[in-house]
Amino acid sequence: FDPVGVILAKKEGRDLSREQIREVVAGFTDGRVAPEQMSALLMAIVFRGMSRRETADWTTAMIDSGVRMDFSDLVRDGRPLRTADKHSTGGVGDKITLPLTPLVASYGVAVPQLSGRGLGHTGGTLDKLESIPGWRADLTAAEMRRSLTEVGAVVCAATADLAPADRKLYALRDVTGTVASIPLIASSIMSKKIAEGTASLVLDVKVGSGAFMKEISEARELAETMVALGGDAGVDTTALLTDMSTPLGRSAGNAVEVAESLEVLGGGGPGDVVELTLALAREMLDAAGRPDVDPADNLRNGRAMDSWRAMIAAQGGDPDAPLPTPLHTHEIRADADGYLTGLDALAVGQAAWLLGAGRSRPGDRVSATAGVVWHAVVGDRVRRGRPLLTLHTDDESTIERAAAAAVGAVELGADPGSAGRSRILER
Ligand code: URA
Repeated sequence: FDPVGVILAKKEGRDLSREQIREVVAGFTDGRVAPEQMSALLMAIVFRGMSRRETADWTTAMIDSGVRMDFSDLVRDGRPLRTADKHSTGGVGDKITLPLTPLVASYGVAVPQLSGRGLGHTGGTLDKLESIPGWRADLTAAEMRRSLTEVGAVVCAATADLAPADRKLYALRDVTGTVASIPLIASSIMSKKIAEGTASLVLDVKVGSGAFMKEISEARELAETMVALGGDAGVDTTALLTDMSTPLGRSAGNAVEVAESLEVLGGGGPGDVVELTLALAREMLDAAGRPDVDPADNLRNGRAMDSWRAMIAAQGGDPDAPLPTPLHTHEIRADADGYLTGLDALAVGQAAWLLGAGRSRPGDRVSATAGVVWHAVVGDRVRRGRPLLTLHTDDESTIERAAAAAVGAVELGADPGSAGRSRILER
């Protein structure tokens, strides 16, 4: 096997064979292909791309680097349980997994949600849930199955044997400027979701300043690539393209996003979070054979909240424990009368990150209490001197830089502009 030949073939724009892809991915995972060789190949892929067939072969090679879980035999009360999952490409204030997972589970669908931790300005679901006292993300495969059967929902960290090639590749891409490639992103996400063993999947592909994909045409191509990969692997996959030019809801951070999710599970919460939660729930329920139900019902009648409490308790969390509160808060006030015409997702995400909500390297600790809460959304009237955003942190020294980022996120104008637009751009 000749890794240099593979690098040169891609450098010259030729398609790689299934065998070449299988060898190079397996060889990188077990150390026969050196990181500098894989770095060169990744950069060639960034420039030359990969065909749909190559992307599918790359995805299969990453799945085959580890175990493939199987939940097709789950039963409850003698009846088979259908599985459905959601994946978001990541955004600011994106806490949708928190209300969505127990909501869908409350209709008797099992949700095996293997989640990640945040890196950079986008938050991670596990980091948010870890602000709940006692809750733990690391479950064994047996614990996952038990939670899925008994509660119907599990949100946990992927085990080390799930697509290990992706884990190693992602770490390399992160430090070699090779993250931004549609075939690499699509295969990375789909290898983990296919290996996770869900029967159906809805993808929330974010578009806008706070997302990987800044343009809708790129987001559409990513979504189409992932839907095709899911279909090829027998996973019933749909995708929504959703707006991430402004952050979701009213908060970005860890405990603050859990608090907002509890509002949604209690039948309230910000309109955009509710809209997106319900739209994604409908996709999952349809795919899992429950098109007959209206997911709004279980947000109103408390069943989704019951499911949340069971899900948190099953992973050692205390659903009644108060959430941690920050040692310091800092308010940013409007410097003029008018309307909020823009709140930039990337800048809000950076402010939350600077306050301690996110990490700059894998393995860094994050602060449970750090985050940003905003008191107006685009289209709202604002008055000079009234609070627009509140920064939360345990580390006072972070406030100055975070405040500068947060001030930069705000755009005020004389007209309300495009208020109340749907987050959902395309299906
Ligand atoms: N998320 C992933 O899991 N992989 C990528 O490549 C990008 C985002």
